[in-house]
Amino acid sequence: MEKLNTWINKRFPLAKLIKEHATEYYASKNFNFWYGFGVLAFVVLALQIFTGIFLTMNYKPSAADAFASVEYIMRDVEWGWLMRYLHSTGASAFFIVIYLHMFRALMYGSYKKPRELVWLIGMVIYICLMAEGFFGYLLPWGNMSYWGAQVIVSLFGAVPYFGEGLAEWIRGDFYISDVTLNRFFAFHVIAVPIMLLLLVVVHIMALHEVGSNNPDGIEIKELKDSDGIPLDGVAFHPFHTSKDLVIIIVFLILFSAVVFFAPEMGGYFLEHANFEPADSLQTPEHIAPVWYFTPFYAMLRAVPSKLGGVLLMGLAILLPIFLPWLDKCRVKSIRYRGVTFKIALALFTISFIALGYLGLQPATGVFTLLARGFSAIYIAFFVFMPFYTKHEKTKPVPERVT
Ligand code: HEM
Repeated sequence: MEKLNTWINKRFPLAKLIKEHATEYYASKNFNFWYGFGVLAFVVLALQIFTGIFLTMNYKPSAADAFASVEYIMRDVEWGWLMRYLHSTGASAFFIVIYLHMFRALMYGSYKKPRELVWLIGMVIYICLMAEGFFGYLLPWGNMSYWGAQVIVSLFGAVPYFGEGLAEWIRGDFYISDVTLNRFFAFHVIAVPIMLLLLVVVHIMALHEVGSNNPDGIEIKELKDSDGIPLDGVAFHPFHTSKDLVIIIVFLILFSAVVFFAPEMGGYFLEHANFEPADSLQTPEHIAPVWYFTPFYAMLRAVPSKLGGVLLMGLAILLPIFLPWLDKCRVKSIRYRGVTFKIALALFTISFIALGYLGLQPATGVFTLLARGFSAIYIAFFVFMPFYTKHEKTKPVPERVT
């Protein structure tokens, strides 16, 4: 082993990489469980790629065979049901983990200087992840796959002048067809996953350049001992890796419980209408995307004009990109921030969850009114941020982490 090690290190900086990113990467010693979602996102990404490879071995990306090939995977392929349920549950788990990972950044101000790029790369990852979920959802060629894709692609038709042409170009046809399925398959299994993998590497490189934030929002690099090691830091390996392992095990227990006992999750993870094959002559009773898109879907439907809805939805997805510059407060962590920010964040969180619920309901009467109100709060959270954070009454931030 010793010899092999030397041989490799003369040719590739393995030891240097391990030192820089693990054994001599110092992260704050007060990480709480919120800091486990990054590693969980890694775990789920790996799981999706692994199970996706096995699904691809038996899946047929054609309008004539796709639905039947998924049934074949579920009934006839050895362990096929497990691969599929791991993958479909993994998709929802990915979004749960990512939403909590992002929420952590909101609570502790992790998007603020010097971590703006970590946040921006994260936002690109998030948008890619949405694309990945959207392309993947068409593949089983169920009736909700079909009509979901129909609704979303037709939104591009709202763009003035060339919208219709754009929607046609995306579909490769006048309606969602075999051609669309083929190209969505290509994006889902190769193009977007490659981008995600590259982006995750860049995300971590950017993070390790500036160092992780922590629940106190204190820059631990500012106080170092005589060896140049942050006083409040501990080596990522073995100290954080051992904690992460516990988090991973707990996550896998919960995840397995869903996979083995409730893989459809009452129609939230696998929608009922998708157990019927795609039918271009019959829409499902309510067309609704999977839960992780419903907050944005609710906003889309809250505006009477199609273009207005598309713009509101686009704004809602893109506004978080500007957080590092919208938030004017000098204190990072919610622990020391003023009451205005706490109320704003609470209202924003409630709105996001409420919109998620409303996106699953029919867009009528009181549901639409509520969706309008919550959309307004969601947007106001970002738009008024420079004002309510500027003169926030903060608490004194301690010098060392607690
Ligand atoms: C595949 C998706 C992703 C993976 C694998 C991933 C991975 C990680 C890991 C391992 C960390 C360090 C551990 C931790 O702080 O939890 C981290 C930190 C961070 N991530 Fe992500 N991430 C992903 C997506 C995102 C997204 C979508 C965002 C936000 C839009 C984001 C924003 C951040 C921020 C701001 C930090 C620094 C947190 C801090 O130091 O307090 N990440 N990420």
